[in-house]
Amino acid sequence: MCGIFAYLNYLTPKTRREVLEYLVTGLKRLEYRGYDSAGVAVDSDDGKGITLVKQTGKVKILEDAIKEFMTGHDIDTPISTHCGISHTRWATHGVPSDLNSHPQRSDEENSFVVVHNGIITNYKDVKKFLEKRGYRFESETDTEIIAKLVHHLYLQHPNYSFRELVEQVIQQMEGAFALAFKSKHFPGECVATRRGSPLLVGIKTKTRLATDHIPILYGKDQLFILEHRPHGAGREVPMIPRTESTSEFQPLEDKEVEYFFASDASAVIEHTNRVIYLEDDDVAAVKDGALSIHRLKKSLDDKHAREIITLKMEIQEIMKGSYEYFMQKEIFEQPESVINTMRGRVNLVNNTVTLGGIKEYIPEIKRCRRLMLIGCGTSYHSAVATRQLLEELTELPVMVELASDFLDRNTPIFRDDVCFFISQSGETADTLMALRYCKQRGALIVGITNTVGSSICRESHCGVHINAGPEIGVASTKAYTSQFISLVMFGLVMSEDRISLQTRRQEILEGLKNLDSQIKEVLKLDLQVLEIAKDLFQQKSLLIMGRGYNFATCMEGALKVKELTYMHCEGIMAGELKHGPLALVDDMMPIVMIVMRDCVYNKTINAIQQVKARGGQPIVICEENDKETMQFAHKVLEVPKTVDCLQGVLTVIPMQLLSYHIAVLRGCNVDCPRNLAKSVTVE
Ligand code: AGP
Repeated sequence: MCGIFAYLNYLTPKTRREVLEYLVTGLKRLEYRGYDSAGVAVDSDDGKGITLVKQTGKVKILEDAIKEFMTGHDIDTPISTHCGISHTRWATHGVPSDLNSHPQRSDEENSFVVVHNGIITNYKDVKKFLEKRGYRFESETDTEIIAKLVHHLYLQHPNYSFRELVEQVIQQMEGAFALAFKSKHFPGECVATRRGSPLLVGIKTKTRLATDHIPILYGKDQLFILEHRPHGAGREVPMIPRTESTSEFQPLEDKEVEYFFASDASAVIEHTNRVIYLEDDDVAAVKDGALSIHRLKKSLDDKHAREIITLKMEIQEIMKGSYEYFMQKEIFEQPESVINTMRGRVNLVNNTVTLGGIKEYIPEIKRCRRLMLIGCGTSYHSAVATRQLLEELTELPVMVELASDFLDRNTPIFRDDVCFFISQSGETADTLMALRYCKQRGALIVGITNTVGSSICRESHCGVHINAGPEIGVASTKAYTSQFISLVMFGLVMSEDRISLQTRRQEILEGLKNLDSQIKEVLKLDLQVLEIAKDLFQQKSLLIMGRGYNFATCMEGALKVKELTYMHCEGIMAGELKHGPLALVDDMMPIVMIVMRDCVYNKTINAIQQVKARGGQPIVICEENDKETMQFAHKVLEVPKTVDCLQGVLTVIPMQLLSYHIAVLRGCNVDCPRNLAKSVTVE
């Protein structure tokens, strides 16, 4: 989804060339989130106005447009304080176009400009309100109302601070947003805020910060300037009392400072590892080099300060290195990422598993009525992959739910439910909404996330970081295997004191111990998979069949093929074959079958025979040296054998490789498939 990057240097002279380079690099780091156009706003040559450069298409096109703009402009004079904002847009309201790109502006003078991630659901009401006051809109975006509304308020209240104006604006907004503002009336200032979409502030100083906490400043309650009516244009009511006058908090000993506002940490990590994750309705303002964080109202569970945390991420983690694509790098990182997921948690000497983030809650979880595993896409598949094992090890009913469907059904939730929210990004809107729904109903909320500081992470009662490292490719790969292992570890924790399950636990622990070397073995299939991809890449359709522990691999493999190659692909539960899908099978239909020597082996062999009887020529993923199974195969991919419940970690990797190679052969954009975004922050 959209990406925000803003940069403010205070008393740290930078030329506009440098600022523009920072902005473009920041946007490049956010490219993986998915976007279709991009733009920047910086001070104009005389420092009195704002220059916008916006382009449809890739950041590279924007970069070229910026280079063109640089000729004939004074961009090499150092400026001691400057604020620049930038954005990658993923179209929701209006097609990708230069005009619809952000920053959106208040007027032809570019008095106020804003970048936005999210959707404003009441924008039509606000638009009518502003149109009645003479504003003419140039874009089809919901965002433009924000720029115009802040301008309208400024004209009415020229003595308001920039931050106060933004506070007034966000009170009128319904929906989800992260916003960063710049204004020619407030040079060298930046105001940013969020509700429902992620935003963080990076801080860079020459010396250590004086504090690790920025206290929250509260305002007084505000009046609404608009009365929202379902179909009306809104009515203005007598205007806004100002927020309580608060002295700005100066968090720094040292006056020279640089600030970075970004949708995620990958955009700031090359500048600083000191960040604050903003909470919903925080308004962060930088004025005269001082950062202050404000909230309009105090609520009961508010913390008094926002902590400046130190990120552990390294810049190399977000670079491609010698790989051609991030997805390829992330597939090949899995031997290490699974180890990182288990590091410090799985003790193979005394056969214990410790999950620090949920340790204190284990007694409560053991008393629960049922476990619910909720997520979207790949994260949901990790729940499907581990459900059977969790039922076995916890002896509790385990429900797996797609977050969107779960919400559509208004699923009954009780105080003694334990709900797991699985999300790589920790920001997926449907998953987050489902979390809030369950939290309101008193369930215990456990987050399984890969992104430290994400919304799901913060809003959960407890949780497990999967520690897979940044995942940049839109197609999730290493996060899946790490989610899988995190859930397996949870099952092991829950069964630690069950005598009857000790042998089972032991074999799973053994399996975990060997997983990294077995993944390395599977990755050696790469060239073989490439050959199969060459046979398949011009096909229209692909079926992937399996059952039991490996059904999740079929669904996940099919999702990978669909999203990366745009080829039709279905994951089919082999047990369902006779109930319909068998009609698709003939000698032309490409089929992959996963046939492992587990408790459903005979049934899966049955399915393969049915496929063969209809002329099907299955590509079989089976265990190494399983000659008996191989006789049914047209082509074979052999993977090492592990314990049944972990086999899915190994069988999914050939599918990741297959989708990757087909995508490359079809000329698809591997890391940013069309129409998709890494972090789906809108419902
Ligand atoms: C998988 O390859 C996806 N791109 C997608 O299905 C993803 O898993 C889903 O959007 C959920 O994202 P999350 O894990 O960040 O919540």
